[in-house]
Amino acid sequence: MTPSNPTFSNFELKASDFGSDFIWGVSTAAYQIEGAHNSADKGESIWDRFTRNKKNIYQGQNGHITCDFYNRYKEDILLMRSMNIRHFRFSLSWSRLIPEGQGQLSIDGIDFYNRVIDICLECGITPWITLYHWDLPQALEEKGGWTNRNILNWFEAYTRQCGQLFGDRVKHWIVLNEPMVFTGAGYFLGVHAPGKKGLRNFLPAVHHATLCQALGGKVLRDTVEKALIGTTFSCSQITPYSQKEKDVKASRKADALLNRLFIEPSLGMGYPVKDLKVLRRMEKHQKPEDQKNMIFDFDFIGIQNYTREVVKHSFTVPYLRSKIVNATKRNVPTTLMDWEVYPKSIHAMISQFNSYEGIKKLIITENGAAFEDNVLNGEVHDPERLSYLQEYIKEVHRAKEEGLGIAGYFVWTFIDNFEWAEGFYPRFGLVHNNFKTQKRLIKTSGKWYSSFLKNH
Ligand code: FCB
Repeated sequence: MTPSNPTFSNFELKASDFGSDFIWGVSTAAYQIEGAHNSADKGESIWDRFTRNKKNIYQGQNGHITCDFYNRYKEDILLMRSMNIRHFRFSLSWSRLIPEGQGQLSIDGIDFYNRVIDICLECGITPWITLYHWDLPQALEEKGGWTNRNILNWFEAYTRQCGQLFGDRVKHWIVLNEPMVFTGAGYFLGVHAPGKKGLRNFLPAVHHATLCQALGGKVLRDTVEKALIGTTFSCSQITPYSQKEKDVKASRKADALLNRLFIEPSLGMGYPVKDLKVLRRMEKHQKPEDQKNMIFDFDFIGIQNYTREVVKHSFTVPYLRSKIVNATKRNVPTTLMDWEVYPKSIHAMISQFNSYEGIKKLIITENGAAFEDNVLNGEVHDPERLSYLQEYIKEVHRAKEEGLGIAGYFVWTFIDNFEWAEGFYPRFGLVHNNFKTQKRLIKTSGKWYSSFLKNH
């Protein structure tokens, strides 16, 4: 399928305006696209388990099949190539490679990722591997998962295996995907796998993830020659609801939690305890050598931005005393996730991260939007997503022009997929998927992205 070349709105930027070495790609994650949840000897992951309880997910859906990428990777990567996409970020399913999380490797799992990598390289597409995009092996969760300090040993061994298996061909590595989200949603709020709640789970999970973030970097440095190593953070510009002191203070706490918690210890600054006092309780989980073991000199930092948050003071929210004022209550344009469309947020986050000393390079490793899509006469016309992408990309360009160290941009996501607790309802893809027939259809936004990337 070769995408046709419709004319697009008044977007005047060209990919070349970002420089010839700027990286353009698409991002995905194993549980969201692979399916084949129990093929060969694959082990169960926490998402396989969590989705068993139908109450956890929109309409009781799960990722058993999703895009069936496990069987269709070849067609999908060829489609990517036809869309001029040259960088593909995907994650490894830990339990597909090591069914019990530690010990015995799966030949089938190794084989699968070898085939994915090889076809990428044959197509001239650079593979970017995320080691951990939220699907912990259930066998490890049974031992406490991220709350158990032994995760350091499990993660170290897993990372070493991956580096040794794939590092001859894969040079771009991402250690963790959005630790704030998998610890916050998974170990504090209980709305993502493994569905644990409370500070007593959250704080150790945060601390162990921070240590693994640095440890993963070090192990990759040891095992993969000439690797470019990064890790990713979710981040949103935080705006106080009013200029009242208590709202400003609330917004500072939210910023510490949502934007600073994981990056600052990796830079040697420790946790942002001054702005978020509850983090003092983390001490209980720390050993003296941890301060230095949280540090790693990443080659790039992946920032993932979708929206901004407006925050106000609230007595009723424990620990934080702040709450998010939902976009729907603020009468602003939103996506299907009820996230505000606010392109300036991506610029603000590039600028905030750029101001840290010690960051070498920033890459937008995710940005994108879910809107309602309809197939009409074999086409999906998605002007809202198209305009969202263009407006955010313009802000990335503004940052670049200002000399901020931004080196790449990946769209979330290549193809509509399983959006965690929201199931299949929000579609974020450049490519539409019919989950019954698995037929792929490039949306207008995808056609635009491919024409934008042409000749780059
Ligand atoms: C990010 C996740 C990604 C996807 C997008 C919409 O937080 O990293 O897997 O769910 O949001």
